[in-house]
Amino acid sequence: MFNKIWRSKEQSNFSIEYTKEDILRQPVPEHVAIIMDGNGRWAKKRSLPRAAGHYEGMQVVRKITRFASELGIKVLTLYAFSTENWKRPKSEVEYLMKLPEQFLTTFLPELIAENVNVRVIGNSNQLPEYTRRAVEKAIQETKHNTGLILNFALNYGSRAEITYAVKEIAKRVQQGDLTAEQIDEEVVASCLMTKDLKDPDLLIRTSGEIRLSNFMLWQLAYTEFWFTDVLWPDFTEQHLLQAIAEFQRRGRRFGGV
Ligand code: IPE
Ligand code: IPE
Ligand code: MG
Repeated sequence: MFNKIWRSKEQSNFSIEYTKEDILRQPVPEHVAIIMDGNGRWAKKRSLPRAAGHYEGMQVVRKITRFASELGIKVLTLYAFSTENWKRPKSEVEYLMKLPEQFLTTFLPELIAENVNVRVIGNSNQLPEYTRRAVEKAIQETKHNTGLILNFALNYGSRAEITYAVKEIAKRVQQGDLTAEQIDEEVVASCLMTKDLKDPDLLIRTSGEIRLSNFMLWQLAYTEFWFTDVLWPDFTEQHLLQAIAEFQRRGRRFGGV
């Protein structure tokens, strides 16, 4: 009725084109997590260096953050750099580590104006000083903001996060603050980097890869997954609407009936 038939450039199947208003008729997912993948392939297709794909991907982060905020999404977690991404060539890692500074220099004023609260999960101790400084500045300057939580997973790995939580819990038991019997799911969740956030409702992964690549293994236990062949630099507001529309059609049972 309200919708046009829409065909994405990258996907051969036809789908309905949604408007923001269509989507807002039903509850939107509160926490959306995205594995932003395909920057390198996007660049390769254009005979550009991989860095060009990362730069373009950064513009998409900006666009999708704005749109998520408009949709009233409460938390947007973006997988920006994994604990495994250090294996990449030094020059690519260096470029990726400069992106937060570059991104935040131009985007931070807008994030502040839009009441966005920037957060980070991941081990920041291993980040170069300039990366850590840029991120810390964004966190500090937006910490009182009450709008969208923009949560970057930067040098994040779920296994490292869980291992850290296990160590924390072992220490508490050793110190006598906790007994083994008292360890429950709540205790484990409270030792994860996401302790103040609800679990993602919707996970999106771009670029056609159907895997988690060490992302939020605990938190995604009951999340709805949406995979697309679209490469991250080609991801648009319409793709996000498509993912949310699909989410709204699904019946979440959490093990019940
Ligand atoms: C995602 O794009 C960005 C990061 C992992 C930092 P990729 O760089 O993984 O792009 P592909 O998968 O090689 O196309
Ligand atoms: C996952 O993408 C990490 C990020 C998007 C930051 P990768 O491109 O690193 O994942 P794999 O290596 O294909 O599993
Ligand atoms: Mg990749």
